[in-house]
Amino acid sequence: MTTTRHLRPLGDKLGTEALGIDLSQPVDPETWDWIKQAFAAHPVLVFRDQDLGAAALAAFGRGFGTPRKHALLKYRHAEHPDVSWLTNVGADGQVDWYGVKRATDWHSDSTYEDELPLLAILHAKEIPAVKGGTMFADMRAAYDALPEDRKSLLAGLTALHGRHLGPAGERLYGNDKGETEKQYLEVRWPAIARHPVTGREILFVNPIHTHGFADMPRDEAWPLIEALAAHSTQDRFVYYHQWRVGDVLIWDERATMHRSAGDYDPKERRVMLRTIVYPRAGHSGLL
Ligand code: OGA
Ligand code: MN
Repeated sequence: MTTTRHLRPLGDKLGTEALGIDLSQPVDPETWDWIKQAFAAHPVLVFRDQDLGAAALAAFGRGFGTPRKHALLKYRHAEHPDVSWLTNVGADGQVDWYGVKRATDWHSDSTYEDELPLLAILHAKEIPAVKGGTMFADMRAAYDALPEDRKSLLAGLTALHGRHLGPAGERLYGNDKGETEKQYLEVRWPAIARHPVTGREILFVNPIHTHGFADMPRDEAWPLIEALAAHSTQDRFVYYHQWRVGDVLIWDERATMHRSAGDYDPKERRVMLRTIVYPRAGHSGLL
């Protein structure tokens, strides 16, 4: 590629293209700095026209931190278990209905793990002819737009997270939560997070994994979780990413929530590679 690297907004919300970078070549230190600076300000960054295998995708992830295996066993990449498939096609070539319904409500990934991911990377390999996008909500802007009394309530709250135990998780998965290697216990994260680089406040409650708040009865907590999800996913905070084959998209797992739009014909193939990246030991930030 000969274009000099530059950013180009995808509309007036979260999505931003990072152009002029070929991820199949080693990324030099100066370009790494540029990517990380850009990502701190633009939490959904899209690199177009890439063609990476699982090993190269994980290697790109290692530039930010440590990719870790995802909970769901079935979708792990055979040779690179820190990379997973997001696919709606089963081993027999038929529609994989779990893959179709998976992640079609708002969440950030793996907040039920004992450590929080920094970011995730999705690489589109096959996409439906129409729609089949991924949506992202800006949880910094959602926080800023909360009424002051909500902000002060949330500042004192610790949220409880579990695997698909929140209201949207129960609705979406019921008893069909998929096979995992281990049992997940409840973990707790403050309801308001701060961005590790910019210090901006972030509403960190998602309706798939957040299933309560410490010292709050469930019949108060669930409506609050639902209300926060409805607030944060208003059109004014949401970017719809229409995939092109070759897109490598990175998103900040703290500053955004996301979902599969779930609006395509399931008989069309939708196949992507994903890795989820955690902070390197002893390092909480992105830079
Ligand atoms: C997921 C996910 C998004 C998509 O599987 O966790 O968020 O568009 N997928 O498939
Ligand atoms: Mn997800």
